[in-house]
Amino acid sequence: MRLDKFLCETLGVTRREATILLRRGEVTVDGNTVKVASVKVGEESHVEWQERHLPMPGPRYFMLFKPDGFVCSHEDSNNPTAFTLLDEVNMDKLHFAGRLDVDTTGLVLITDDGQWSHRITSPKHKCEKTYRVWLEDAIGDDYEQQLQDGIQLRNEKGLTLPAKMEVVDFSQNELLLTISEGKYHQVKRMFAALGNKVEQLHRESIGTIVLDESLEPGEYRPLTAEEVASI
Ligand code: URA
Repeated sequence: MRLDKFLCETLGVTRREATILLRRGEVTVDGNTVKVASVKVGEESHVEWQERHLPMPGPRYFMLFKPDGFVCSHEDSNNPTAFTLLDEVNMDKLHFAGRLDVDTTGLVLITDDGQWSHRITSPKHKCEKTYRVWLEDAIGDDYEQQLQDGIQLRNEKGLTLPAKMEVVDFSQNELLLTISEGKYHQVKRMFAALGNKVEQLHRESIGTIVLDESLEPGEYRPLTAEEVASI
């Protein structure tokens, strides 16, 4: 692919603007400043604009360890958005494939591929999400069965779909919960319906994609091809 076409697609600029960036010496290919628009770049090329790596044009997929206090939206008047944790070009094209509440931590997937994120968020696909939950009060003996049978949430018509619960530590009121829907505040509302309260919530996995243990809160990385294909 020609370098000017590559810049148009990754940066969303016009051919003329791409030529100007090149003439100014803002673009390097494999460490060398390139000013010629017709130079060919491919999968193996490392292209940088203003010292920022530009990925090959095409859909983008990332996992982020969302910290407490960040919102999953492009704008918010009260809290910083989780997008501020990403250093990517064309940020306005990216969206969250399923949001977390401002005080929930853990795995969020970010992409510009709407069909892919639809398979995560659409109720039809029943994509499983696993949460680590800390409750205010003791885990009830009947919770596992009730969550399996379905919970009646306030202001919802039917019961929740069967959910799997696994106790991690009774003394800490800590458990893992796997659900296959994503209703508004679903986990908090499920435990509220059981007469308890979620004190802390952390998402560990979406489908078979697990939050990378090497990521610290606020860090992110591209998904591997296998992770993308797993959805
Ligand atoms: N359920 C909740 O209640 N909050 C979240 O952030 C995610 C699931």
